[in-house]
Amino acid sequence: MSKLKKALTKAKQERSQEEVTSLGNALKKIRRQEPDAPPPGPAVARPVGRKDRCRREVNVEYRVTRVRPVDPNVLRKNKLFTLFKDNKITDHFDLIKARVLKKLDKAGGNCLIVTSANPGEGKTFTSINLGISIAREHNRTALVIDCDLRNPWRRHYDFASDFFELPVECGLVHYLEKKARAEEIFINPGIAKLTIIPAGKVAPNSAELLGSPRMEALIEDLKVRYGNERIIILDCPAVLACADPLILSQFADGILFVVESERTAQEELKKAMSLFAEEGKIIGAILNKTRTDEDRIPD
Ligand SMILES: Nc1ncnc2c1ncn2[C@@H]1O[C@H](COP(=O)(O)OP(=O)(O)OP(=O)(O)O)[C@@H](O)[C@H]1O
Ligand SMILES: [Mg+2]
Repeated sequence: MSKLKKALTKAKQERSQEEVTSLGNALKKIRRQEPDAPPPGPAVARPVGRKDRCRREVNVEYRVTRVRPVDPNVLRKNKLFTLFKDNKITDHFDLIKARVLKKLDKAGGNCLIVTSANPGEGKTFTSINLGISIAREHNRTALVIDCDLRNPWRRHYDFASDFFELPVECGLVHYLEKKARAEEIFINPGIAKLTIIPAGKVAPNSAELLGSPRMEALIEDLKVRYGNERIIILDCPAVLACADPLILSQFADGILFVVESERTAQEELKKAMSLFAEEGKIIGAILNKTRTDEDRIPD
C-alpha cells in the first residue's frame, strides 16, 4: 500500500474511532491535538465536539480568554435580560435571533453589524442581549465586540464597564495600537459560550484604526476560525454620528438596524439606511423601547 493510501486509511480509522469514543475521551483527544495558542491570530475559545457541522453541540473551554464571572443580579440590573427566561424580552430576542441566524446562514456568513441612526437608541443593549441569546443555542457561540471607539454620545464609556461592570484594562483599541496581544482582549463574563471584546479606551482616530489592515486581519481570522458556529456581533456607533459603521460594514454579512420607538425619525432612518444601500447587507430593523404592556421591562 502506498504511503498516501496508508495515511488515508489511518485517518479514516481515527475518525470513526473518534465518533464512537465517549465524549470525555473525544474531548481529551481534541484538547491534546490543539496547541495552547494557535499562531497566528486571536482564537481563544476552543469549541470541541463531533465534526458534523450543522447540529453539533458546541462546548467551550476557556484557556486563554480571561474569565470574569459577573453576578447575575448585575446583569439583570443592567438589562441583560436574555440570560433569564422569565421575561418577554427574552422571547423577543429569541425570535430576532432565529431570523438573524437564518439570514446569516443564507448569506453564508457569521458577522453581524448592529447600528442605528442616532446615539442612544439601544444598539449595545441589542448587541449584548442578542449575543447572549445566540450563545444559548446549543450549536453556536457568540463574540460581541465593542466597536464604538469614539463614544460620540459621551454618556457612556465601554460596554464591558457599562453593562457588565467589569474593569477594563485593555481592549480593541489597545490591540489595534499594538499595545496588547489578541489573547489579552477577550473576556468571558461567566456566561457560557459568550465572549466579549471591550473597546478599551476612546480613540479619536477610530476610522483609521477600524480601517487598518490589523483590524481586517483580526476580523477575518475571527470569522474563519470557527465558521458559522461562532457569530460575531460588531456593536457600532450611530451611523449619522460618525462614519465608523460604514468602515466596518466591509466585514459584515448582515446589518441590523435598531430603531427607537417614538424617537427615531423616519427621515433619519431612511438617510441612515441609504448609506448602506449599495452593499445590500441590511437584513432588518428592530423596534426598540416600545411601551406596550407586553414589552414592559420586568422589575
Ligand atoms: N428596550 C429597552 N428597554 C429599556 N432600556 C433600554 C432598552 N434599550 C436600551 N435601553 C437603555 O437605553 C440606554 C441606551 O442604550 P444603549 O447604550 O444600548 O444605546 P446605544 O444605541 O448603544 O447608545 P450609543 O449610541 O451611545 O452607543 C441604556 O441605558 C440602555 O440600558
Ligand atoms: Mg452603544
